[in-house]
Amino acid sequence: MSSAPVVTLSNLSFTYPGASSPVFKDFSLSVGASEFVAIVGGSGVGKSTILRIASGLIKPHSGTVDIAVKKEPSRRRRALVFQDGRLMPWRTVAQNIALGLEGLELPASEKERRVEDVLSLVNLSDKADRWPHQLSGGQVQRIGIARALAVKPDILLMDEPFSAVDAMTRRHLQTELVRIWQKSGTAIIFVTHDIDEAAFLADRIIVMGDSPARIVNETIVPVDRDLRRDSQDLSRYAEGVAGALDFQI
Ligand SMILES: Nc1ncnc2c1ncn2[C@@H]1O[C@H](COP(=O)(O)OP(=O)(O)O)[C@@H](O)[C@H]1O
Ligand SMILES: [Mg+2]
Repeated sequence: MSSAPVVTLSNLSFTYPGASSPVFKDFSLSVGASEFVAIVGGSGVGKSTILRIASGLIKPHSGTVDIAVKKEPSRRRRALVFQDGRLMPWRTVAQNIALGLEGLELPASEKERRVEDVLSLVNLSDKADRWPHQLSGGQVQRIGIARALAVKPDILLMDEPFSAVDAMTRRHLQTELVRIWQKSGTAIIFVTHDIDEAAFLADRIIVMGDSPARIVNETIVPVDRDLRRDSQDLSRYAEGVAGALDFQI
């Protein structure tokens, strides 16, 4: 980790009601401020469950989620981005983003500014008054990211956010996400099935495996961000991760 942790998951254990075995036992992971961590692992290993616990949506049966940043009434410390965008179809783009700001202590004028700022950040300022059905799949995902960033989270949790878009759009969104991440300064945990995507995006790649799930491999990716597309070094890291993953499935 490059800096002091912003979020620390310690010794998490979780079993779904009625399940015969725990998803994980004593699972721990720390993410540094502004660090980009990718999690890969087989289907059903527990990646989404980790994100749900990290986001506070569900509570672990034991263990803790510590966030080393002071809670501020005008921000949320964590925000979640889903695979399908999850926009409300009866609200405009701007209204969808504003929805995430409800409950924060912000004057109306500041809320409007936040919406404008994040729309500009994802390059969709001209879509503020559109309805979700008028957007492409890639645009929906960018709005989902904008809505999450509007709350100024210290950690952004992303659950396979690009898996439902076509390959070209996906490549574009990856490049965009790196730019947005560098500008926003938030830490990210990004779950993906795609090892090349993980290697392109992340400072560190975690492979989850086993049952109960644990971290079976951890790879630091020290490749310069400007050289990542088509870098031979990057493919070597990706191959290492693929090897660790193959061993699991
Ligand atoms: N709401 C739920 N109730 C019961 N079991 C669940 C629920 N959600 C997920 N599971 C089970 O928990 C395990 C981990 O699921 P999940 O975290 O969604 O895996 P992943 O995201 O890695 O595919 C799987 O075996 C899955 O079937
Ligand atoms: Mg999942």
